[in-house]
Amino acid sequence: MKDYIKLSNVTKTLKGNTVLNNISIEFEKNKVYGIEGINGLGKTMLLRAICGLVRTEGTITVDGLLVGGDKFPKNIGILIESPAFLNEFTGKENLKLLSFLYDDVTDSDINSVIEKVGLNPADKRHYGKYSLGMKQRLGIAQAILGCPDLVLLDEPTNALDAEGINRMKNIVTELKNAGSTVLIASHDKDFIEEVSDSKILIDRGVINEVVCHG
Ligand SMILES: Nc1ncnc2c1ncn2[C@@H]1O[C@H](COP(=O)(O)OP(=O)(O)OP(=O)(O)O)[C@@H](O)[C@H]1O
Ligand SMILES: [Mg+2]
Repeated sequence: MKDYIKLSNVTKTLKGNTVLNNISIEFEKNKVYGIEGINGLGKTMLLRAICGLVRTEGTITVDGLLVGGDKFPKNIGILIESPAFLNEFTGKENLKLLSFLYDDVTDSDINSVIEKVGLNPADKRHYGKYSLGMKQRLGIAQAILGCPDLVLLDEPTNALDAEGINRMKNIVTELKNAGSTVLIASHDKDFIEEVSDSKILIDRGVINEVVCHG
């Protein structure tokens, strides 16, 4: 499906500053897209707009359904900047709480995503005591919980060591094999090049798509 995600003339202006400038672009289902661009260019804003967290001019549809206002895409996993977890609960307890939002996430699904990101489901440490990289890993785990149809990842390799980055590459491949569509905003050009089918380059509101060769 060529127009799984479709942005038509999307503009976002914040305090007189045009962050997204009349953007029209389509994303194909079951593809991995890497979004690159310098600091402050609107990568995070683009992801926020697609998941319906900010209002924009123009229209955004995901799987044929309009996004924005109080409408959000169905079956979506999101990692945007620092996710909010409860400091006084363990990683697993935090995911367990989130899992009540899902219909069919089991205890073993939770253990499986925690292991996938290289954390230990039996770790009794509270989230508040986690290192930065461990927090990032738990953020990734919550984004992939339930294997969503659409996964939006903002700077997923931030704070990750080499082992964590390798795990992240495997996770993206697994998501794609399971049929998910993945959008990744990142400054990590090697990571983007390796995991993406296409790169989206934003420059002053102009968007270009470039095919990646892994
Ligand atoms: N809440 C806000 N209020 C005002 N301006 C904002 C707000 N959030 C973002 N902006 C502005 O929107 C622009 C795009 O920000 P965005 O976070 O999308 O950039 P980015 O491409 O993700 O940057 P980075 O590479 O640093 O993550 C920036 O100029 C930023 O200052
Ligand atoms: Mg950003």
